Formats: sequence, C-alpha cells, structure tokens
Amino acid sequence: MNDQVEANLAAVERPLRVAVLGATGGIGRAMTAAVEDRFDLDALYTLSRSGESVASGEGIELDLTEDASIEAAGNALAARVDGLDLVINCAGLLHATDMAPEKSLSALRRANMEQAFEVNCMGPMLFMRAIEPLVRPDPLAVMAHISARVGSISDNRLGGWYSYRASKAALNMMLKTLSIEWARRRQGSVIAMFQPGTVETDLSAPFLSGQKPENIQSPAASARHLVGILAALTPHQTGAFLDWRGETIDF
Ligand SMILES: NC(=O)c1ccc[n+]([C@@H]2O[C@H](COP(=O)([O-])OP(=O)(O)OC[C@H]3O[C@@H](n4cnc5c(N)ncnc54)[C@H](OP(=O)(O)O)[C@@H]3O)[C@@H](O)[C@H]2O)c1
Repeated sequence: MNDQVEANLAAVERPLRVAVLGATGGIGRAMTAAVEDRFDLDALYTLSRSGESVASGEGIELDLTEDASIEAAGNALAARVDGLDLVINCAGLLHATDMAPEKSLSALRRANMEQAFEVNCMGPMLFMRAIEPLVRPDPLAVMAHISARVGSISDNRLGGWYSYRASKAALNMMLKTLSIEWARRRQGSVIAMFQPGTVETDLSAPFLSGQKPENIQSPAASARHLVGILAALTPHQTGAFLDWRGETIDF
C-alpha cells in the first residue's frame, strides 16, 4: 500500500482547508466548532443560504436548490483556495411549513418529493461537481456527508418517511458511485456517509417525544464523535456508510 492509501487527516502535518455546508443548522454549527477544536486550520468556509459566517469561518451563500447558487459557491471557493482537504455536508431537509414526512402512500406529493431530492441528493451532488477541480488529494481529501440511517434500504423495518428515506438512499448511491470514480481518477480521496445519531435539532424536534432520552444526543456530542471518526478515515475506506460510533451501516 502506498502512503496516500494509508493517509488520514489527523496525520496531515500542514493546516487544513475546510468547507462546511449547512453550517447554520444544528449539526452544521456543532461540526464547524468541532472541526475548529480538532484541527489546525488554514482556511474555514461556512456555506449556508444566509451566507452567515459561523464561528471563525468565512460565510459563503449556498442554496442547494439553485444551480446558479451552487456554481457561484464553487467559484467563490476556487477564487480563495486551490484545494480543499475536508468538505462536510450538513445540509438536509425532513420537514418544512408545507411539508411533513409521509406516513402513507396517500400523503405523497410531487412537490415535496422534489424538495427532498433537491436538498438531500441533487444539490449536494451538483456541489460535488462544482468543486471537483478543488479535490486534489495532497495527500488526501475527505468529503463527509451527513446522510441518515433511514436511507438504508436493508434497515427499513418501520416504513414511512418516503421522500426523506428515498432521497437519502439516492444520496448514498450517488456518493458510492462517486467514490468508485474518484478511487480511479482522484486517488487519495475519501467519500464517507454518516448517520449522526438522533440529535436534538430543528430537524428532529417534532419527532423526539417518542425517543428515550438516553438515545438523544446534543449536536456537540454527535459532532465530536463524527469529527473523531472522519479524522481517522483513510482512502481505502472510501464509500463507507458509518454511524456516529464508527460502525458500518449496510446500504
Ligand atoms: N437531527 C437528527 O437527528 C438527524 C438524524 C439523521 C440525519 N440527520 C441529518 O443531519 C443533517 C443536519 O441536520 P440537522 O439535524 O442539523 O437539521 P437542521 O438544524 O434543520 O439543519 C439543516 C440544514 O440544512 C440546510 N438547508 C436546508 N435547505 C437548504 C437549501 N435549500 N440549501 C442549502 N442548505 C439548506 C439548513 O439551512 P438554513 O440554516 O438556511 O435553514 C440547515 O443548515 C441533515 O442532512 C439531516 O438529514 C439528522
């Protein structure tokens, strides 16, 4: 095995260039703070619809439902750095004022399916396309996407949440496919999908009442676990779907 295949972020000796998407969300803010704590940073960019600067990050606007916004965010990053060592996608959509996770087939609406797929799958993949020129593994580049265990088809025992489940399953398939392409063309890249646990955020708030308190994590606790795991990932793990303990989830 060459050095690149065994490299991990914890062992990279120079300061890292990092971008966090969905940086204004519950998990996004916590991941940004955890990255600041864990790594020596050369540059930190926090991307969100508002373009807010989160922690010490430089804010950049990004709406994942708009092609022009994705392209502009890619250009803004390319104007600032010639490579990104770590990209963390914390954006996601489960519910909105006009959208609730479907409990039954009769609740399916085209507009809600489109919204879920745009934010959870199409937008993040088009963003990967936009920043591909910045993925120059030296010695590696880690692309971490917060997915969801409910996106596992083999783990689907409860049903429900059609659009959210399907959009996360589609994200996983797209990223697994990208991991195969980049293992050939961008050796040293690592694509990883994460289940953050059940985390207390706006996204999960309407659904926490049935959960045992010991199964709910704070965003800070989840982020600490996830950053610890992603710091140790090596290129030969590319395409992995992992939970916050580092255990593999079957697709
Ligand atoms: N919380 C959990 O228990 C849990 C469990 C499993 C998986 N996840 C996943 O974890 C990730 C983070 O979720 P969270 O719990 O932190 O939820 P959250 O607090 O609601 O954050 C969601 C983030 O997604 C961003 N977003 C929504 N629509 C967007 C768009 N069109 N363009 C760009 N960004 C957009 C939001 O941006 P604004 O700030 O602009 O609204 C926000 O930053 C999601 O992928 C979610 O599916 C969460």
